[in-house]
Amino acid sequence: MAVGLVCGPGSISQRLLARFPGARAVAVDIDPVMLAIGRGAVGAVDGRLRWVEADLAWRDWLEPEPLTRLYHDLGRLLRPGGLFLSGDHMAYDPALPTFTRLSQRVLDKQWTDAAFAEPGIETAEQWWEAFASVPSAAPLLAERAARFAGKRRQESPPGLDVHVAALRAAGFREVGTIWQVLSNRVLLAVR
Ligand SMILES: C[S@@+](CC[C@H](N)C(=O)[O-])C[C@H]1O[C@@H](n2cnc3c(N)ncnc32)[C@H](O)[C@@H]1O
Repeated sequence: MAVGLVCGPGSISQRLLARFPGARAVAVDIDPVMLAIGRGAVGAVDGRLRWVEADLAWRDWLEPEPLTRLYHDLGRLLRPGGLFLSGDHMAYDPALPTFTRLSQRVLDKQWTDAAFAEPGIETAEQWWEAFASVPSAAPLLAERAARFAGKRRQESPPGLDVHVAALRAAGFREVGTIWQVLSNRVLLAVR
């Protein structure tokens, strides 16, 4: 059984279920727009995927305190040998300022509107704008605004050191990066 936390439209659950035909998954997110897209585009995958609408108490990136709580709960819920994977931008250790600068310089170039426009890819802002122009999107967008009301985006999301320390404190016996492009990485933790 796999659980996709902050699943968005469920692209990771979809791939996981395609790769492991015997697996089942639960996909969790707070955003009614993402869930509607996921339910419509990915669906229930022959009853193997369940969609759950829930507030996991963070917005885009996790603050250290909810992150610690979440990892603590996952540490209790997962059986020994169970795996937790987290894919995100996780800042380098503060003792690696050159790595941080290098990574930021590359990201600053990659995440411009022009860099998206060249291969004809929409930015997230353009996508939301286009979505808002669809008349039937209005109720979903209103619901989304209500769900996110009062939530704030964190200025500096927790870095790799915070994730690793919180996972170890939660009882994960192996924690390490298994994929990485600069600060964008996938962390694997083994319970
Ligand atoms: C960067 S997207 C993740 C996308 C997804 N992992 C994928 O690969 O498509 C972040 C997601 O976190 C969700 N999110 C933010 N705060 C949340 C909360 N408090 N509870 C549940 N989901 C939340 C957002 O709705 C959004 O879908």
